Amino acid sequence: MIPENTGPAAVIVLAAGAGTRMKSRTPKILHEIGGRSMVGHALLAARSINPRRLAIVVRHERDLVARHLEDVDPAAVIVDQDDIPGTGRAVEVALQALDADQHLTGTVVVTYGDVPLLSGELLAELVATHEREANAVTVLTAVLDDATGYGRILRGEDGTVTGIREHKDSSEAERLIREVNSGIYAFDAAVLRDALAHVTTDNSQGEKYLTDVLSLARESGGRVAAVVTADRWQVEGANDRVQLSALGAELNRRTVEAWMRAGVTVVDPATTWIDSSVTLDEDVRILPNTQLHGATTVARDAVVGPDTTLTDVTIGEGATVTRTHGSGAVIGARAAVGPFTYLRPGTVLGETGKIGAFYETKNVTIGRGSKLSHLGYAGDAEIGEDTNIGCGNITANYDGEKKHRTVIGSGVRTGSNTVFVAPVTVGDGAYSGAGAVIRKDVPAGALVLTVAAQRNTEGWVAANRPGTRSAELAQAATKDSSSTPASTEEGNQP
Ligand code: UD1
Ligand code: MG
Repeated sequence: MIPENTGPAAVIVLAAGAGTRMKSRTPKILHEIGGRSMVGHALLAARSINPRRLAIVVRHERDLVARHLEDVDPAAVIVDQDDIPGTGRAVEVALQALDADQHLTGTVVVTYGDVPLLSGELLAELVATHEREANAVTVLTAVLDDATGYGRILRGEDGTVTGIREHKDSSEAERLIREVNSGIYAFDAAVLRDALAHVTTDNSQGEKYLTDVLSLARESGGRVAAVVTADRWQVEGANDRVQLSALGAELNRRTVEAWMRAGVTVVDPATTWIDSSVTLDEDVRILPNTQLHGATTVARDAVVGPDTTLTDVTIGEGATVTRTHGSGAVIGARAAVGPFTYLRPGTVLGETGKIGAFYETKNVTIGRGSKLSHLGYAGDAEIGEDTNIGCGNITANYDGEKKHRTVIGSGVRTGSNTVFVAPVTVGDGAYSGAGAVIRKDVPAGALVLTVAAQRNTEGWVAANRPGTRSAELAQAATKDSSSTPASTEEGNQP
């Protein structure tokens, strides 16, 4: 039988810090990159190694963070840190909370809620090395050009890791060390529990340092080792908004590159932003200045962009979406949208359909092959198949208090500037004349006209605007024709 859970005993995510340098009312770990909060990224990486338990330590803006965790990882155990400061104390309270439920044995992994690019693969490698070497502690490290601020990795002459010295507590010589502590570790649960009981706050910051566990573990005979990563982005945290945007750009660079390797053409990676949650098929083409957010999915051979921003939009095979701003919409296979189109939630465009230039749509289902080509608004409506909505058509769906539905059948042809005053139904195959204001239902196959008869008052300009350029030109144009001013009326024309 395959064991239900092959991952470590627990992952503890540290997230109690204040993050004051963000200068934000939003807790630091709730700031987003790639369409997901930093803590959301951290939890996904933690979950990907399949731990039996997952705890997250909170304190600053605790309620806001807890509410967010309900959305992103409701199964995570939320642990409140007390007044004793430091990463060691944070892990200690988490361990106590987890132990209270069921005494932990085996590997306990510690990560940070503000290190969003850490991958599940690197975490898995850390755990695998830790368990293969039967270490007491395995720390993830990186070698940086500028190690200022980080805890430095202390090694003996034979290269074995002997401890970590915090920047503020380090000597001149130690400050020259460029190998730094990422703050991500794998511990043996028993070693961690015993060592934390001996960690004091006797240091320059008056905190319980988790880093002290390394030397304590060695003193009691445990093996301490490091996994050195060459990918510094994976261990980088965001402390301010400058670092947040740098991490966001790097995450995006990685996401876009991964999609290109998976068969997506991205013409300009530098101006293409793709959330981690988006999915794209092979042979999709993304043109410059395009942003794809949320649960957006794009099927094979579709072309998206340029200058397009889509959130939670589903795009069918071979569709084109040009210079469009959309959210919560579904675009059928081989359909066309844009340019300059605003798709609002509930827009469903059928296969081979079209929503053209300067159209706004909302809550509208448009059948296969139907076209809304230019200048209009379609909201709270249902349109059948192979219907052609003329230029400038509008569904007047709002009476000032309530929204009403417009139902338009299949094979309908509407004249320019038709207004549908909802609630109203237009039957299959009906036609409307230009400027029709449809207030009552139109039966199938009928022609609907609501325009008043046209009246031409001849000579009106000469009589009412004498001496103007218009009058001059009118006079020149009419000098050969009859001189008696008259009014003519014509019948309605569709
Ligand atoms: C810590 C490490 C340092 C390492 C660096 C990497 C210690 C003593 N030092 O330093 O060796 O190079 O991270 O970034 O561990 N946190 C809590 N509760 C606390 C304090 C911190 O949950 O009481 C959380 C923070 O929210 C953060 C993480 O722990 O996610 C690290 O805290 P931070 O204050 O940034 O640690 P550093 O002093 O930078
Ligand atoms: Mg600190």
